[in-house]
Amino acid sequence: MSALLEVSGVSVSFDGFRAIDNLTFAIGAAELRAVIGPNGAGKTTFMDIVTGKTRPDRGRVVWGETSRDLTALSESRIAQLGIGRKFQRPTVFEDQSVADNLMLALKKDRGPLAVLAFRPSAADRARIADLADEIGLAGALDRKAGELSHGQKQWLEIGMLLAQDPRLLLVDEPAAGMTPAERAHTADLLIEAARTRAVVVVEHDMEFVRRLGCRVTVLHEGSVLAEGSIDRVTSDARVIEVYLGR
Ligand SMILES: Nc1ncnc2c1ncn2[C@@H]1O[C@H](COP(=O)(O)OP(=O)(O)OP(=O)(O)O)[C@@H](O)[C@H]1O
Ligand SMILES: [Mg+2]
Repeated sequence: MSALLEVSGVSVSFDGFRAIDNLTFAIGAAELRAVIGPNGAGKTTFMDIVTGKTRPDRGRVVWGETSRDLTALSESRIAQLGIGRKFQRPTVFEDQSVADNLMLALKKDRGPLAVLAFRPSAADRARIADLADEIGLAGALDRKAGELSHGQKQWLEIGMLLAQDPRLLLVDEPAAGMTPAERAHTADLLIEAARTRAVVVVEHDMEFVRRLGCRVTVLHEGSVLAEGSIDRVTSDARVIEVYLGR
């Protein structure tokens, strides 16, 4: 398998503290990967580096068939190349309907004014229906986003990212604050999304990670401590010591 994203030898320090330390990571084009590790391990910083929010002090972040080094590119350019990121707090437009939120995401490249004057085509409406179906909000298309539950807002935001059809989706702690049923649905929709793209999920909830059924990377002090199946990493003595056993 050739990698879609390959991070190698990446380090970054904040005021002399090395948050990412010679990190190496690779993910394939249609792969789901969970990233776990203790607070401060560098999981979010890793996503900041991939998306261009934080510049590494050294190392390479190589993307796609053309092996472009992302460390030289702006955040917006990196997003254009097909890397989408979901932050913990949902950023949906609360006064707009679910359908309009998805439409805005679908037509994001046109700018907000063009979107206002925009009349969706039959193809757009079909795509929105498909997206709503995929995120489990098919029955809520006409509801205002502000009326949705916390979990539903998270799904809507994932749907808005999927509307942009990213090749790599980065999701930071999606299950936080969700009910067990919402967590199960979130795992299912991330599994589905990863059938056609790379998806990296940072999560502390081990039941959720187990449900993802994918390869797991354990970060500790900015480096990979262990990598493999959930059963393998959860039985690793070092992983138990620094993370699971606390
Ligand atoms: N912009 C920044 N400036 C200074 N320090 C930072 C910055 N970003 C991250 N850090 C530090 O880098 C370390 C790694 O933080 P990071 O947020 O990546 O951890 P994490 O694995 O996501 O933890 P958590 O599970 O709590 O979300 C922490 O010690 C954090 O304080
Ligand atoms: Mg974090």
